[in-house]
Amino acid sequence: MTAVTIKTPQEIDKMRVAGRLAAEVLEMIGPFVVPGVSTGELDRRCHDYIVNVQKAIPAPLNYKGFPKSICTSVNHVVCHGIPSDSKILLEGDIVNIDITVIKDGYHGDTSKMFGVGSVPTHAEKLMRVTQECLYKAIALVRPGTHLGDIGFVIQQHAEASNFSVVREYCGHGIGKVFHEDPQVLHFGARNTGMQLCEGMTITIEPMINAGTRFTKLSTADNWTVTTKDRRLSAQWEHTIAVTAEGCEVLTRRSEERL
Ligand code: MF3
Ligand code: CO
Ligand code: CO
Repeated sequence: MTAVTIKTPQEIDKMRVAGRLAAEVLEMIGPFVVPGVSTGELDRRCHDYIVNVQKAIPAPLNYKGFPKSICTSVNHVVCHGIPSDSKILLEGDIVNIDITVIKDGYHGDTSKMFGVGSVPTHAEKLMRVTQECLYKAIALVRPGTHLGDIGFVIQQHAEASNFSVVREYCGHGIGKVFHEDPQVLHFGARNTGMQLCEGMTITIEPMINAGTRFTKLSTADNWTVTTKDRRLSAQWEHTIAVTAEGCEVLTRRSEERL
């Protein structure tokens, strides 16, 4: 992490462009998330779209040694799943696709859950409640809101459904730097932590588990994070600018009202 940076209106303009591109990658890839596709193929399609169509850079590729252009986290994988030609999506799987692009020096970072074909009711509920956690947090983003208020509302909503909040990974400031201060925790107490100011750009990206909150980092690749109990996990992410009035969701997709 680095320092908290306040973006000028000109910088927010660039963040808006990067954010829209990241959102458009998620919109593009949706129809390809079907039973039988490999996560390696999804990675190639996103990579080619980002590089050749958007003329942008896939930020994960070679980031701290990450080997692919997107993250694909299937079922009990919490985050940072590495796409692979041998990982075939099956009917009933749930998968998070996390896209970060760099355009004109600025980052846009967003992820969503996809059901593969038709998905069991409990998995649908986990995906829905996790998206609601993100939306309830976004509704609080305005100058003066404490970071703890954001964590609190996410934790409340997840735990009300008997789900748990992953604590080892968090949202972050974002701009010219992929991960900068502040850390945006997805749990916490009201009226604690830093207060948001106009011009901050942050991500909120709750990871919610069906079982216990505990995670395990793969010793094989040092990236893949799974739930310790091997039960399902879901995540949704947006990049958000704090405005004088409230906020602007820079990675909003056209399917979203917000
Ligand atoms: N996109 C992730 C985030 O939301 C970070 C992925 S880092 C990578 O912060 F190296 F795994 F790609
Ligand atoms: Co992020
Ligand atoms: Co992300």
